[in-house]
Amino acid sequence: MTKEINEFHLLVTPHQNKKLPIYRWYHFNHSFSRDLVWYLIDKFDLNCGNIILDPFCGSGTTLLAAQEKGISAIGIDILPLSVFISNAKLQNYNIDKIKYKIEELNKLLSNHNKNTTLIPEFKILHKVFDPDVLSDIFVVKNWIQKMEDKKLKYFFFTALLSITEKVAFARKDGGFLRIVPDKKIPDFKETLFIKINEMLSDIEHSNSQNNTKSKAQIGDARKICFRSSSFDAVITSPPYLNRHDYTRVYILELAIAFLKSEGEIKRLRYKTLRSHVEAKKVFVADGYKEPIKLKEIIEKLEKETLPNKHVIPMIKGYFEDMYLVLKEVARVLKQRGFAAFVIGDVRYGGFLVPVSDILVEIGDSLGLTHQETLVARLRGNSPQQMGKFGKIPAKESIVIWKKQ
Ligand SMILES: C[S@@+](CC[C@H](N)C(=O)[O-])C[C@H]1O[C@@H](n2cnc3c(N)ncnc32)[C@H](O)[C@@H]1O
Repeated sequence: MTKEINEFHLLVTPHQNKKLPIYRWYHFNHSFSRDLVWYLIDKFDLNCGNIILDPFCGSGTTLLAAQEKGISAIGIDILPLSVFISNAKLQNYNIDKIKYKIEELNKLLSNHNKNTTLIPEFKILHKVFDPDVLSDIFVVKNWIQKMEDKKLKYFFFTALLSITEKVAFARKDGGFLRIVPDKKIPDFKETLFIKINEMLSDIEHSNSQNNTKSKAQIGDARKICFRSSSFDAVITSPPYLNRHDYTRVYILELAIAFLKSEGEIKRLRYKTLRSHVEAKKVFVADGYKEPIKLKEIIEKLEKETLPNKHVIPMIKGYFEDMYLVLKEVARVLKQRGFAAFVIGDVRYGGFLVPVSDILVEIGDSLGLTHQETLVARLRGNSPQQMGKFGKIPAKESIVIWKKQ
């Protein structure tokens, strides 16, 4: 059953989170909104005795929204940035300790000698930051790294990471990071302190319940490291088949805080889900049969001249990977548990790849019974394509399954 529901239009985007305390700590372009998670929690009739999994936790929307309802949730993500930000949002902070450190930071940024800071050899960092700003970033990073209190580290690192784009001659632009040489860069210290004060005020006014066992950890959704029948529900949003490469979009944050070399970033890129052309095959999808709907679309695409020869292997690889994800979801869900996937259809060479319908077909083969597809948004063809292929809109939807 497919239902179109207009009220979900904005809920599949990060729009709402931008203004919500704690959710707004770090803007993750690929997030969905708190109210979508709350809607699904109510729909699945979940309560504080239950436990939720998000195998692609991103910036931790599912985990925080569940925690605010007193429900434990576990997040998995392959990107260390995602795991870090998710965990930062789940902590119970001591305001006095933070205030004490803010004073220390204020003095540090007034006195340090910019020329003595060691900066790693990432080309991109030197390309997008003014040398003084880059030096400030690493002074703050080194100061944070010396802290022994893990929660203080979460707090201050999140503030630093969340302003990196603002102070860089660059802008996240859909699936990549665009260099913007003429961007007006605000003052580093002022920008950092505005963020820190916003975060502090969120903690002061937060009513987040922290008696849950929620946390995020590094992992791969194609091989989930939890026992069978562990979770009551899965609420998630996998990477869309839109060629967005998270290791490029978030390269500044990865280089500043998590990875040591360009080689490490490349290796991570290769290991991510095959939703972009550079990701490589990591796992063998035993038992996978190409869905009928996918075969039909591949046959059409093979007759077209696509601008990139890697697109067809990427599309095939994406569904092989998603087969593994759904197989793992079916395994770790308890009997009668629900899974909700937020996902978008895509278009290549003017042909629609009905991603959600293909996932429904795969889920069915794995013991996940399709309950409904809630259509949040319909996206039309571009005017040029409309003439050639007709207007078949691509849907962005929430696919719901139940394990029988
Ligand atoms: C659409 S985002 C999730 C956004 C999240 N729902 C939120 O609200 O912030 C998809 C996430 O999948 C992660 N990812 C990519 N490949 C993965 C894999 N093989 N296993 C786990 N996570 C992966 C990306 O790092 C990204 O954080």
